[in-house]
Amino acid sequence: MTAVEQSRRLVTEIPGPASLELTKRRAAAVARGVRSTMPVYAVRAGGGIVEDVDGNRLIDLSSGIAVTTIGNASPRVVDAVRTQVADFTHTCFMVTPYENYIAVAEQLNRLTPGSGEKRSVLFNSGAEAVENAIKIARVYTRKPAVVAFDHAYHGRTNLAMALTAQSMPYKSGFGPFAPEIYRAPLSYPYRDGLIDKELATDGERAAARAIRVIGRQVGADNLAALVIEPIQGEGGFIVPADGFLPTLLEWCRQNNVVFVADEVQTGFARTGALFACEHEGIEPDLICTAKGIAGGLPLSAVTGRAEIMNASHPGGLGGTFGGNPVACAAALAAITTIESDGMVERARQIGQLMTDRLSRLQADDDRIGDVRGRGAMIAAELVKSGTADPDPQLTGKLATAAHAAGVIVLTAGTFGNVLRFLPPLTISDELLSEALEVLAGLLAEL
Ligand SMILES: Cc1ncc(COP(=O)(O)O)c(C=O)c1O
Repeated sequence: MTAVEQSRRLVTEIPGPASLELTKRRAAAVARGVRSTMPVYAVRAGGGIVEDVDGNRLIDLSSGIAVTTIGNASPRVVDAVRTQVADFTHTCFMVTPYENYIAVAEQLNRLTPGSGEKRSVLFNSGAEAVENAIKIARVYTRKPAVVAFDHAYHGRTNLAMALTAQSMPYKSGFGPFAPEIYRAPLSYPYRDGLIDKELATDGERAAARAIRVIGRQVGADNLAALVIEPIQGEGGFIVPADGFLPTLLEWCRQNNVVFVADEVQTGFARTGALFACEHEGIEPDLICTAKGIAGGLPLSAVTGRAEIMNASHPGGLGGTFGGNPVACAAALAAITTIESDGMVERARQIGQLMTDRLSRLQADDDRIGDVRGRGAMIAAELVKSGTADPDPQLTGKLATAAHAAGVIVLTAGTFGNVLRFLPPLTISDELLSEALEVLAGLLAEL
C-alpha cells in the first residue's frame, strides 16, 4: 500500500484528460440519474487527500459524505478486511451466522446512548436502517403514522423518500410515496430567529410548536414514531435550539411514540461526541447508524431498547447482505480506531479550528449569514449581502471554484445555500487551514 502524500497538488486542469475520458465512458454506461459532486475519478485516498486519475491531489472536506471519518484505507480496517476476506466473504447471517455480526451488535449496544438493555440489527445502507426502524416502531406500537421534520433527509428508498422533505432532486417524479408520513416544523435557530428571537434560542418553545402541529394533523393515538436527525445533514447542518430534542423525547415517552434518532450522518465521532444525541443528553428509543460505522464499507444498523427491538417476530427483519462479515470486520476495526486514536477529541479540535476561521470570515463578510454545526460537521449558510435571503448561486459558484482549486466541498440545505464541511478526522491542521484559506480567497474574489 502506498501512503498518499499529504499535500494539495494540481498537475492538470480539473477535470484532467484521464477524468474526461472516464466521463465519456460513464455517459455511455451509467444512468444519468446518479450525479457526482466533482467530475474527477479517484484512484487512492488517505489522511486528508483524495488523488485522482490524472495525479491531482485534492484536499478532502467531504469524507465521501461523512463516511471515511477515521480516514480512507484506515490501517486497522485494511488489515481486518484482508483477514476476513481470506476466511470467508459471505454465508448470510440468516443462513449460517457468524461471530463478528454479534460482536458489532455488542459494540453498538455498548456505545450508543442509553444504559438499559439493548439489541441491534444490521443492514447495508442508511435508508435501509431508517426503513427498518419504522417497521420495528410500527410492530411495537401497533400504530401506523410517522412524523418527520422540515428539511429532513432520510434516504432514497420509497419510505425514506416519503420521510425526506425536499422534492428536487430526491423525490420529484418518483411518487407515489409511502402513506401515513406527516411533517412537523423543525427548530432552525438561524431562520426562526428572523421571525421570533425567542424561538431561536428556546428549544422547548420550538418543540411545543411541533407538538401542536403533530397533535392537530396526526394525533398521538395514531403515531408510531417520530424520526429526527439530531443535527440535520442534507438539510444544512441545522443544530436545533437547546431543549428541542429533550422536549420531543419527553412527549414521545408520555404518548407511547417511538423516538427514532437518525444518526446516519452524525454518528461515530463526527460531531465531537460518539453520537450527536449525547450533546443534548438524550437517550433515544432507537438509533439508526450507517456511513462512518465501518470505515467505508457498506453497513448500517438499528440499535435500541430491547423491548422495542424484540417486538418483531423472527424472520420479520433481515436481508441477504445485512451485516456482511467483511463489513462487520471493518466496523470492529473502525470502532477500535475511534476509541484508541482519540477520534472524538480530534473531531472537537477540528470543529474549533473550522468555527474560528469561518467566524472570522463571517465578521468581515455579511454574505455568511450563519456558521454552525458541531465537531467535524460545520457549515456556512450564504445569503445575499445585507439580507438573510438564501444565495444558492454564490454557494454553487464558490463550490465550483473550490473544486477547480483542488478542494472537495459539498453544498446542502433546502435552499441550496449551505457549504458544508465534513473532513476526515485524519486530516492535518495544515491541510484543513489551507483549504479554508483557499475558500476565503475565492469568496473574496466572487
Ligand atoms: C441523516 C441521513 N439519513 C439517511 C441517509 C441515507 O443513507 P444511505 O445513503 O446510506 O441510504 C443519509 C445519507 O446521506 C443521511 O444523511
